[in-house]
Amino acid sequence: MDFDEPIDRSHYPTMKWSGDFLLDHFGNAEAIPMSVADMDLKAPPSVIAHLHKRVEHGIYGYEYKPETYFAALESWYRNKHGWKIERQHIEPCPSILNAIAILINQHSNAGDGVILQPPVFFEFRMVIKSNGRAIIKNPLKLVEGQYQIDFDDLEAKAADPRNKILILCNPHNPVSRVWTTPELERVAAICERYNIFVIADEIHGDFVFPPHHYTPYQTISAQDSATCISPAKTFNIAGMVDAITIIPNADHRQRFHEFAHRYQINKVNVFASIATEIAYRDGAAWLDALLTYLQGNIAFIKEFLQVNALNVTLIEPQGTFLVWLDFRELGLDAKALERFLAQEAQIAIAPGYWFGREGAGFARMTIACPRDTVQRALDNLAAALQLSE
Ligand SMILES: Cc1ncc(COP(=O)(O)O)c(C=O)c1O
Repeated sequence: MDFDEPIDRSHYPTMKWSGDFLLDHFGNAEAIPMSVADMDLKAPPSVIAHLHKRVEHGIYGYEYKPETYFAALESWYRNKHGWKIERQHIEPCPSILNAIAILINQHSNAGDGVILQPPVFFEFRMVIKSNGRAIIKNPLKLVEGQYQIDFDDLEAKAADPRNKILILCNPHNPVSRVWTTPELERVAAICERYNIFVIADEIHGDFVFPPHHYTPYQTISAQDSATCISPAKTFNIAGMVDAITIIPNADHRQRFHEFAHRYQINKVNVFASIATEIAYRDGAAWLDALLTYLQGNIAFIKEFLQVNALNVTLIEPQGTFLVWLDFRELGLDAKALERFLAQEAQIAIAPGYWFGREGAGFARMTIACPRDTVQRALDNLAAALQLSE
């Protein structure tokens, strides 16, 4: 496990590294790619070895997800997070956004409101809109350097009978808050009171830094919720496309299951299935090493900003591999900041307004990469800031 190893991804059609993507989104094919939330780090060695073995077999016919797949998933969540997932509650799904789109359709009607907590992962907005629902904002509040849920506002939005669903991002992309048990209990109390169905997206649940602690939403409230989990971020296998939906309510689960059957989205990709199983079975030590490395990257950023006295503030990340940087002191509007970062600093990091207008003045940097990449990005940033003074 050498997370410092630089690995060229540019010869594959990776979203993050493709020149076309960088040109389209940043107007600069040479900017250092740190926007897409995947890692420039190799998956766990055991995953790679088992995939090799599977490739060598040479036959890739129809398969089902074996008992060992579910056992590996269940023991990961039981051992690591103290969450006992019931086998019969599990509904596989190709991707988390796939599951969210289905759940939105099943728990609301066209025109109904879906509550979001911006700044938040921008694809939620797209999936709500493309399914003909209304985006209802319950913006997070930035209080003394850290984000909080505005519970009064959440209650007001939940009380409106036109609003049917809350998408909860736990931990939260991009502000990297790990919601605490008391916070989740308040969310659950409000949503239960007003019959709001909760879709808990917990794809970042394995990335939590001590003393913070990931609380699966379903350990607090289960019957009117569905939780989406996936090995995609944890083990850097997003391109395999494999996710899991946990739906405790039998009627809700039956409807989801029937939908998956009706639209035939219940096929198994042999490589995805192996990668998920082996990652959950063998990946614990690798993940521990990765979390230590990520904390090292965060410490490096903090020190760099301090030593170089940059007018940029790091919002202390409690989890995820995303850091949320506050550039408001530069006094640039959203578009000017975007231009400054991509053109002058030559770093492709996601401008905060992508996550909703509440993110303007901030930007999200993906730090799951060799430290050298982080250093080059910060050197670029420092140089551009010096020039602009
Ligand atoms: C919060 C969150 N949910 C979902 C996804 C995407 O998941 P999938 O690729 O399984 O649809 C991402 C990827 O960045 C994410 O950050």
